[in-house]
Amino acid sequence: MTDFQAFAVEQYLSETEHGVHYNFSESGVHPMSYAELFELANVDRDALFATLVDYPQVNGNQLLRERIAALYQRAHADNVLVTVGATEANTLVAATLLEPGDNVIRFSPTYEQLAGNAHNLGYEVRSVDMHSTQDWAIDAPGLAAAVDDRTRIIHIVNPNNPTGQVLSADDRELIVAAARGVGAWIVADEVYSGTERNTDEPTASFWGGYERVIAINSMSKAYGLPGLRLGWLLAPESLIPALWRRHEYASITATMMSMQLASAALEPSARDAITARARGLIRRGFETLQKELSYHKGVFSVVPPQASAMSFVKFDLPVDSDTFSARLLTEEDVLVIPGSRFGVEEHFRFSSALPEEHLRAGLQRMNELTGRILKSA
Ligand SMILES: Cc1ncc(COP(=O)(O)O)c(C=O)c1O
Repeated sequence: MTDFQAFAVEQYLSETEHGVHYNFSESGVHPMSYAELFELANVDRDALFATLVDYPQVNGNQLLRERIAALYQRAHADNVLVTVGATEANTLVAATLLEPGDNVIRFSPTYEQLAGNAHNLGYEVRSVDMHSTQDWAIDAPGLAAAVDDRTRIIHIVNPNNPTGQVLSADDRELIVAAARGVGAWIVADEVYSGTERNTDEPTASFWGGYERVIAINSMSKAYGLPGLRLGWLLAPESLIPALWRRHEYASITATMMSMQLASAALEPSARDAITARARGLIRRGFETLQKELSYHKGVFSVVPPQASAMSFVKFDLPVDSDTFSARLLTEEDVLVIPGSRFGVEEHFRFSSALPEEHLRAGLQRMNELTGRILKSA
């Protein structure tokens, strides 16, 4: 039996985030209230309240799958399986595609969901680095060295968690060429598409660019609706039944209410209003973060994220990332995620798509702790 590998980031979150006052650990935009969702998505309350609290269509109802398919080029409802968040989609993919002797490529730093599942199922996971000094670009020789004819999955999170970087056209081509060369699947976790800071054009999906792609997304990040626990995967129609059979074991289905609310939120004009909300929070929040990070000269730096609410901030202080984060939590009631949870020291992940006053107050507390650390050094 393989040594069980805990999901380092999610473990940290579940052990610390409950009850913290300044929670800067989230990765999506500040969640919406039901009231706000009902308003922005024109939800028909009477129809919703009249719905039976029943099992819905297990693979996702037709309207929802059609609205999801419409977000992609050359996709239709039968390419879509609705899941309990992107989390279940990643889990199903690992359980479905891999066979004994296969290996999985992941890029580092990244969100470990698929790679952790693959490791815990006993498969080899190979890591290819990305470096802040190269704006988190992919190490091309590293990728070439890692891929071989037993590579079954190349897993990419684009835009990335924790760096917020979007793959360059060259890096995208590199990944497609590497996958094509050995017939591997590209599993693209695209939950941060739609959260771009400098353009209203969503990050292009890998779907449609190569025949062996599974594209994963959810309502959690760009839509600010993580509590719906509603995600999906897009796969070639021939692969859907195998994934669906695992879905029946894993969860049977997402909920009736989530499917209805997600359908309403993905109706084109509702979706525009919801993504505009997300982009506004993301763009204002990053400006405030940058301003506050410059308070102590030369201590903090960040490669500006191209998308997402997250920044992977580098710090120059005589403490490691665990100590800095733990002191922030205990002394200032501020939660960030230490870089160690992504395997990168001298960094923390910070989410800034939050109401302005709250964000500023929390950052000022971080600056106060930083001042004390500098003083005692
Ligand atoms: C890249 C990535 N994929 C998947 C998830 C989980 O998403 P969901 O809430 O849809 O399960 C997260 C959550 O942080 C994430 O960052």
